[in-house]
Amino acid sequence: MDEQEVEAAVRVIRSKSLYRYYSLTPQAEVNAFESEFSAFLGVKHALAVTSGTGGLITALGALGVGPGQEVIIPAYMWIAVAAAVVNVGAIPVLADIDDSFCIDPESVRERVTPRTTAVIAVHMNGGHVDISRLLDVALSHKLFLIEDCAQCVGGTIGGRSIGTFGDIGVFSFQTNKNMTCGEAGCVVSNDEHLYQRAVATHDAGYTRTADGLFSCDEAEITTWGRGYRLDELRGAILRVQLRKLPQVISKMRSSKYRILESLKALPQVRPRKIIDPTGDTGGFLITTYPDEATARETCRSMRANGIASSSPDTSNVVLADYGLHIYYNIASLVRKRGTDNRGTPWTLEENRGSEVSYEKGTNPVADDLVRRSILFTIPSCLSRQDEDDIIQGFHQALASPSVAG
Ligand SMILES: Cc1ncc(COP(=O)(O)O)c(C=O)c1O
Repeated sequence: MDEQEVEAAVRVIRSKSLYRYYSLTPQAEVNAFESEFSAFLGVKHALAVTSGTGGLITALGALGVGPGQEVIIPAYMWIAVAAAVVNVGAIPVLADIDDSFCIDPESVRERVTPRTTAVIAVHMNGGHVDISRLLDVALSHKLFLIEDCAQCVGGTIGGRSIGTFGDIGVFSFQTNKNMTCGEAGCVVSNDEHLYQRAVATHDAGYTRTADGLFSCDEAEITTWGRGYRLDELRGAILRVQLRKLPQVISKMRSSKYRILESLKALPQVRPRKIIDPTGDTGGFLITTYPDEATARETCRSMRANGIASSSPDTSNVVLADYGLHIYYNIASLVRKRGTDNRGTPWTLEENRGSEVSYEKGTNPVADDLVRRSILFTIPSCLSRQDEDDIIQGFHQALASPSVAG
């Protein structure tokens, strides 16, 4: 953040026009952000929303997902992915991950049932889902594909932006993301009908005319709104952040790949598989060790050298301890606690027959990988000295007799 975001925020506040659809002096900041973001991604439509969670719910709403349907999600994700499915009354079904730490297309195939309607593929920690294999599975089973790009804003596969491969892409601009205004998100699609449904879902249930008035005649599009409209203040800040995104990504990537290069000398360290390294946004480094003890000792030793974030669970963390990212840590999922005191969606009549378990052990690859892998976040502001400190921290940790022996 610098004076450009300050100037954008002050400009909007001075205009006294903070609402996107009409005002005294329309600023059209959210509109402009949507045009700029869709051009950046190379997608027809972008719809700004108030959060990534709201974006996922909007996507499911646009697709008409609800009770009686199952949505496949990865075992390693963020709780919001499961929450979105639960909030629309559908059943989340877990699929295992592979060594990309993203959903395994083969596991998706195995977990499809006649009730499966959609898959939410999460591009985790700056890397990507094996999208071409997943698209094959989705196409052969006629499933909608939602790409959750919250943790990989600006990522590409084969030069094409993530979020543009499936039916709908969802982004988050919450504070931990590659670009931010504190809280916001975006829903993107190349499909005009889905976009219009998303517009209605995120607003008051109808689309709008160019003047901001509700357009109530389109029965195919009309639904019930969720109220996730974005305001002009955040729209203006996001426009500045989007201009900075390429530079932020380039800096994170250069730090990450310099650190990775130095890890080649440490045979115990296996870097995470990245599907397309040229499209990795660089903000996360995951390394895997032969066993849990080595992972934990590496983590401890580096922490002792001061290599950690101010918030203890966001960087230099063994993934099993990474809170609500791993399915078995999400108590409300494991115990199937509903959105109301009747246990919705698991107790709904329409969902009877969807027998699912979220207990530890149901996703063995994820279970194994998260206990012997460590995640580091790579900020865009690391100095060369910071990078050297991290490199030295790894080498020192893995050269120590307790680990090497
Ligand atoms: C993978 C993933 N999906 C969804 C979300 C939800 O986004 P938000 O926090 O903006 O609601 C997040 C992050 O918070 C996330 O990491």
